[in-house]
Amino acid sequence: MQNPDLNTRRSLATPRGVGVMCDFYAVRAENATLWDHTGKEYIDFAGGIAVLNTGHRHPKVKAAVAAQLEAFTHTAYQIVPYEGYVALAERINALAPIGGLKKTAFFTTGVEAVENAVKIARAYTGRSGVVAFTGSFHGRTMLGMALTGKVAPYKLAFGPMPGDIYHVPFPNATQAISVADSLKALDLLFKSDIDPKRVAAIIIEPVQGEGGFNITPPELMNALRKVCDEHGILLIADEVQTGFARTGKLFAMQHHAVEADLITMAKSLGGGFPISGVVGRAEVMDGPAPGGLGGTYAGHPLAIAAAHAVLGVIEEERLCERAAELGRRLQERLASLRPRCPAIADVRGLGSMVALELNDPATGQPDAQAVKRVQDEALKRGLILLSCGVYGNVLRFLYPLTIPDAQFERALDILADVLTA
Ligand SMILES: Cc1ncc(COP(=O)(O)O)c(C=O)c1O
Repeated sequence: MQNPDLNTRRSLATPRGVGVMCDFYAVRAENATLWDHTGKEYIDFAGGIAVLNTGHRHPKVKAAVAAQLEAFTHTAYQIVPYEGYVALAERINALAPIGGLKKTAFFTTGVEAVENAVKIARAYTGRSGVVAFTGSFHGRTMLGMALTGKVAPYKLAFGPMPGDIYHVPFPNATQAISVADSLKALDLLFKSDIDPKRVAAIIIEPVQGEGGFNITPPELMNALRKVCDEHGILLIADEVQTGFARTGKLFAMQHHAVEADLITMAKSLGGGFPISGVVGRAEVMDGPAPGGLGGTYAGHPLAIAAAHAVLGVIEEERLCERAAELGRRLQERLASLRPRCPAIADVRGLGSMVALELNDPATGQPDAQAVKRVQDEALKRGLILLSCGVYGNVLRFLYPLTIPDAQFERALDILADVLTA
């Protein structure tokens, strides 16, 4: 439902660079439901971009934040610390799939976690180079966009980028890039551009988020671990989007046989409150000198309280299992639509990180317009969907894992109607 008056005010008061998908405005939300200014109800399959694995305003998250509000809201952890921060670090250290002693630092946004992981890697190794992948997304700050492997819209007009950052191709069947091709490109990079002994870190998303929900093949992760070990490079897993039960495991790296040295996290950790973090091997995390890490709001008390509640909810409501089950049902339903929807080029996923790729059946080319049409039609029928992918031709599904079954099925019915219309 449009709100012409507010849309005009928005375009006059805020810059176009902050692109907005919907032309309606949120007034209330609960679990997987969101209501706009006209009272229209939506099923939220966007989840605030992967933030709401535990749903909007989970009662336990609300209660934890309300209790913290009554105690104190801000001291700046680096000035007057609080136990919640330490206790959350202890919990993350116990849960993260990294062997040995671990430490965790908290920040506010996902890109801050990425920036700090790179800072930590540089301080520990005394090296500067960072290798990232094409199609990756690591955020919108100067370093975040430099690491991001997609030019439009993230890097347009913002150059020059910070130096010593390199990209190698991410394996992608539709682009005919194999794991062997990626590894060959990495080898060539070490021959042509940077001595591996100058590389501090390789950063990779276990499942590329914005890039199209492309799953990192285990052979690639294994090979990267080997390359890192051979040259003293740190492996950073950017789990900002994959974290906290989305893929059927608490961390997506739990699907892999090898470990990262550092893992970034954010989004669903806070259940709607801004918090991010970096967990890693203790000696690596202690690379930067005191004062080198932090931030005024880093590890904000309200978000720390929310994160404690989120971890409890994930365990109590068995959301890892739920993610696997919902993802299986969604993939099955999407696959069953293939005979009636020839545009479906691929259905893939890890747990509830499921993607639907649409191509033009006549040309076989990626069809971003078709994705836009599906999104628009679904929205009219009250289902909020997000797109992604280097070519914008992928639909992703980021429903709360706490969504009731009946509502989930209703959403799948809308999706099926729209895709086969
Ligand atoms: C893998 C990954 N890294 C980093 C970021 C940046 O997070 P934020 O937008 O909270 O800065 C995102 C956001 O989508 C992401 O998906």
